[in-house]
Amino acid sequence: MSGILSAYIAFIVALNIIGAFLLIQFTRRIKVGDESHSYKDGELIAGHDVDGIQEMNNPLPRWWLWKFYILIAFGVGYLVMYPGFGSFKGVLNWSSAGQHAQEEEAARAEFGPLFQKWSATPVAELAKDEEAVKAGQRIFLANCATCHGSDAGGNIGFPNLTDNDWLWGGDADTVKTTIHGGRKGNMPAWGKVIGEQGVIEVKNYVLSLSGRKHDADAARAGKKIFATTCVACHGPEGKGMPAMGAPNLTDNTWLFGGTPRAIEETIRNGRAGVMPTWGPILGEEKVHVVAAYVFSLRNQAAQ
Ligand code: HEC
Ligand code: HEC
Repeated sequence: MSGILSAYIAFIVALNIIGAFLLIQFTRRIKVGDESHSYKDGELIAGHDVDGIQEMNNPLPRWWLWKFYILIAFGVGYLVMYPGFGSFKGVLNWSSAGQHAQEEEAARAEFGPLFQKWSATPVAELAKDEEAVKAGQRIFLANCATCHGSDAGGNIGFPNLTDNDWLWGGDADTVKTTIHGGRKGNMPAWGKVIGEQGVIEVKNYVLSLSGRKHDADAARAGKKIFATTCVACHGPEGKGMPAMGAPNLTDNTWLFGGTPRAIEETIRNGRAGVMPTWGPILGEEKVHVVAAYVFSLRNQAAQ
């Protein structure tokens, strides 16, 4: 914070406190005997009369007045102890960042040894440790649920992590590698390459791969396109290729939606799903534990 800004803020804060004090001083005094006011039973009448109720103009009760003074003293005391008066840090040297660091330190002291122990256990084994899986779930809910859903059930474009159907491979260490380093799916756009008719034909072939309703003639033509254009990633039988993150097209599980329209859209315009890189954000130990949680889910959803 620049010196000028700090002085400006300090000035306004001081002005407010002094202003509040002066306001109390000003309003507690009543000029007794002032001709311009009227009195009733020795009490000053403000001059307002509503439905027979007269507004009086009495000094504030003493306790009420003291409450104001105490509040002002509290404000001054607060500004002496805590940050708030310009860039003055307060004599307690408290800061929200400092408190956060302190709490983090306490959490590390409490959970550090536990995470250390867990990170020495292989992911597949750790997935059977109830306590570790629970800790992993907490990490998941805080970092992953926005995309994969709080039940890890996924959404369009965000894979379901509970069905043991994997884009990038489902053995425990690969799951950890995926989380640690992130993944970028690359399904090229084929519309311009194979033309509109090509898109329709190969879509019908893709539908046929999972036994869906399709046009048999178009699918036959599409099979030829697939054999030249798509096998490199999706494999000769369309069963996918984890090394490329290319999905299995025969299992009727769809990442981007399984309606003929969604499939057509995928083929025509391509897709590029991005799984963020978590290693630098979570650190090795948390990645390990959340991987164990994800791995523990793999057979949750019936295939
Ligand atoms: C910003 C959204 C987003 C967040 C947050 C996110 N992911 Fe992902 N994740 C994705 C996408 C998209 C994919 C699929 C990438 C692709 O299309 O190949 C993916 C893929 C995965 C996969 C691979 C699934 C497979 O079938 O191979 C795993 C495992 C995974 N995520 C776990 C996690 C975990 C654990 C976290 C939290 C630490 C997390 N993700 C946070 C978007 C996200
Ligand atoms: C360069 C490798 C590559 C080639 C070649 C390729 N694909 Fe893909 N395809 C992918 C990847 C990777 C994904 C997943 C994209 C993602 O996760 O963002 C994908 C996704 C798809 C999907 C969506 C599947 C789902 O579950 O929603 C369909 C359908 C598909 N491809 C069909 C085709 C067809 C048809 C061809 C040939 C015309 C083709 N792909 C060629 C890599 C490829």
